[in-house]
Amino acid sequence: MAVVDLSRLSPLAATPTGWLEAVLANFDAFLMDHASAEKKASGMAMSMVSHYPDKPSIVRAMVELAVEELNHYREVMRLILDRQLTPAADLKDPYIHELNGQVRKATEFFLLDRLIVGAVVERRGAERFALVADNLDGEPPLARFYRSIATSEKRHWELFINLAAHHFDESVVTERFNELTETEAEVVKTLPLRAALH
Ligand SMILES: [Fe+2]
Ligand SMILES: [Fe+2]
Repeated sequence: MAVVDLSRLSPLAATPTGWLEAVLANFDAFLMDHASAEKKASGMAMSMVSHYPDKPSIVRAMVELAVEELNHYREVMRLILDRQLTPAADLKDPYIHELNGQVRKATEFFLLDRLIVGAVVERRGAERFALVADNLDGEPPLARFYRSIATSEKRHWELFINLAAHHFDESVVTERFNELTETEAEVVKTLPLRAALH
């Protein structure tokens, strides 16, 4: 598979100060939202499999991804149950909703944009899970868990970028990624700070 030169990609805007405090102040709520996010990520990967049965690179990667995200879901759900919490209902994620709204529906753009939105979302996840991991000093096992999740999500955003480059010119991929990175930064600014991944 093509490998993109990541140094040509725009940097991710830093998560606003205050987000981490909101998460640490209500970690139970964060866990609930995190579980939902993993379940939705798995579902998204399976929807890619259904949508592109004729593209073996997509099918192979997305089946693997769906299983991995579902494993994350299982692990977060174990944490929730260990805390004697009742899992919360899935809520609409305004961040994901806004970014999915950037996907152009025309056939020539649809796959590119879905892959790029996937990359942008996974990259933000990697950044935020690493922030959480770095700030759980009193809870080494939980910090280790979030470190491993951050490592997986980093691998995922690179996977989406490389899949995009497998199907489109690298310059097209880089340009669209940089555009959507800018849009994502604007979306992040508009969202309230809460104990949720986004
Ligand atoms: Fe995940
Ligand atoms: Fe992921």
